[in-house]
Amino acid sequence: MTVTIVGSQLGDEGKGGIVDVYGDAADVVVRYQGGDNAGHTVVDGDEEYKLSLVPSGAIRGKIGVLGNGCVVNPETLFDELDALRERGIEPDVRVAARAHVIFPYHRVLDGIEEDAKSEEGDLEAATTGRGIGPTYEDKAGRRGVRVGDLLDPETLRARLEYVVPQKRALAADVFGIETDEAFEVEPLFEQYREYGRRLEAEGMVVNVGSFLDDAIDGGQNVMLEGAQGTSIDIDHGIYPYVTSSNPTAGGACTGTGLGPTTVGQGEVIGIVKAYLSRVGTGPLPTELAGVEGHTPGYEASESPDLSADIDQPQSEEELAHYIREEGGEYGTVTGRARRVGWLDMPMLRHAARASGFTGIVVNHVDTLAGLDEIRVGHSYTLDGDELLSMPPTTERWGECAVNYRTFEGWDEQDWAAVADEGYDALPETARTYLEYVSDELDVPIYAVGVGPGREETIVCERPF
Ligand code: IMP
Repeated sequence: MTVTIVGSQLGDEGKGGIVDVYGDAADVVVRYQGGDNAGHTVVDGDEEYKLSLVPSGAIRGKIGVLGNGCVVNPETLFDELDALRERGIEPDVRVAARAHVIFPYHRVLDGIEEDAKSEEGDLEAATTGRGIGPTYEDKAGRRGVRVGDLLDPETLRARLEYVVPQKRALAADVFGIETDEAFEVEPLFEQYREYGRRLEAEGMVVNVGSFLDDAIDGGQNVMLEGAQGTSIDIDHGIYPYVTSSNPTAGGACTGTGLGPTTVGQGEVIGIVKAYLSRVGTGPLPTELAGVEGHTPGYEASESPDLSADIDQPQSEEELAHYIREEGGEYGTVTGRARRVGWLDMPMLRHAARASGFTGIVVNHVDTLAGLDEIRVGHSYTLDGDELLSMPPTTERWGECAVNYRTFEGWDEQDWAAVADEGYDALPETARTYLEYVSDELDVPIYAVGVGPGREETIVCERPF
């Protein structure tokens, strides 16, 4: 069977940790979209692994697969694999022949387009700068290079000879930058041919659809791991402040070659963070005090002194600071401070519908501990009407006024002990909060995350 893991909000909901917990029963863990923009941290005892491309299951002896819906930077892939090998892990990673390849010119163009958008107004998405958007653009424009092409010198050369002069002209003539080797066919051909040889020598390139089908037919468990989250999905997210792929569950089909009936017979689990965080620009109705340069119109005030430890945060700025520090809300890939906000139920209702969740996992319940009260955006008011889900344009979303519900907070606990004892050991106020979320979405709680380690996860249901 399959279990699909989907981010319900803006990414960084703690998917890696839950893939790790449930992944024990999986034989194969597959990523179906995104590239090395997806930072995931896996904690194993005292060891911490920060990965951006390699599926997290690969550090636990599972077969890790990058599906055709992914965009692959071979340099990142081999750097991560080599670093894991140096730490004594032998990851078994396969890559779809149909996945698209990120080239250095994609990364350069990602940066210059962001600069241009920022000069034109507030259009930049604050991307991770990994070349993700430009690579998906070439995929849709039918001028991309796929992983399978790296194994075939003639095709690789022909593709590069077509596309590279176009990229050079775009960079030089449209954006006016001086180009270097990132825009020259010969060095790119040599470097990427070498990656192709290594992929081939290590037997990494597969036809993912049939590879997974065979695994399922053979009784194996397949976990499909979405990166990023529903609200930064290119179709269902807050366009244009989105990533360029489909983290929603439909992406698990198109991004692997498994049929919707196969994915739909399994479980689809939405990962929820108990509050919101995001990197990037654009509106965020439940945002607490913002991050300069990312929150439209936000300028930090001179006071309060946020460097001091805050006992009971009072102002929005103090609350944002408290949650950011407690939750470690800094980008895994970029190190950027994330914007934070209260849980947004219309966002979650939208996510639950778009992916058809069969269960949810609520993470970071420990992060909110110590606050006297916790707020949740229950619904929006737009043009005098109450909305329970997100409006389809981002501009209208930004006009929504939030109707909050307030919940009593909970104290710090020995969270590992709570996780050990189970759901009923959670403070009653935390359970009230969790059950409200579950009831509103009409989806059962499968697990609750109360810390970063796998031993700090309360598991209520095991999907495999
Ligand atoms: P890109 O995916 O690098 O093109 O960035 C597009 C938008 O998605 C930006 O707002 C990024 O901050 C956001 N984004 C990309 N990857 C992640 C992630 O793994 N977690 C959270 N946000 C992400």
